[in-house]
Amino acid sequence: MKAKTPNESRTVMTDLVLPSETNPLNNLFGGELLARMDRAASITARRHSRRVCVTASVNHVAFNRAIPLGSVVTVEANISRAFTSSMEVFIDVWTEDRESGNRTKANEAIYTFVAVDETERPVEVPPVRPETELEKERFAAALRRKQLSLVLAGKMKPQDAKELKAIFD
Ligand SMILES: CC(C)(COP(=O)(O)OP(=O)(O)OC[C@H]1O[C@@H](n2cnc3c(N)ncnc32)[C@H](O)[C@@H]1OP(=O)(O)O)[C@@H](O)C(=O)NCCC(=O)NCCS
Repeated sequence: MKAKTPNESRTVMTDLVLPSETNPLNNLFGGELLARMDRAASITARRHSRRVCVTASVNHVAFNRAIPLGSVVTVEANISRAFTSSMEVFIDVWTEDRESGNRTKANEAIYTFVAVDETERPVEVPPVRPETELEKERFAAALRRKQLSLVLAGKMKPQDAKELKAIFD
């Protein structure tokens, strides 16, 4: 399969924070942000693979800054690496200052998707060809994140996670 760049599947979604989407502190409810990130990332996985994609795991989420009611929120999803049927997708979340238009990074997450066929069986996806320095960094570290996710899910024995072990040796 021909490799594709992250640029070919990037997804950017911008939306407001409305009252029904907030917690009692009038900030964006965490579950609402998780859903927005999942939507953007699943579109990226679908664009990369041109298949139906399911969320296999949420590997990392950092809610670094609260996002107040009325904020304009941009969710950007970029594929970092594809393996056989699975794809790792980074999600960066930005808020936008109303007056200056300047963007501030609020949150980030890493999701794993699996491309499936009509019978929900995993199918092969194209490899990723990273272009920028950041894309190359994320690509290089993706295998150890995959191994960590599989170990935590009980799908891989810790002693088999060789790439992961290498960072502690
Ligand atoms: C995701 C799913 C298809 C994986 O099925 P499976 O039987 O584990 O399939 P496999 O063991 O062949 O794994 C398929 C791929 O997923 C990867 N994978 C599975 N679980 C994973 C996890 N927790 N973290 C990272 N990767 C994972 C495997 O490593 C494999 O990757 P590769 O083909 O690129 O090497 C299956 O568990 C599923 O359908 N889950 C429900 C998905 C869903 O409904 N999501 C929405 C939640 S509401």
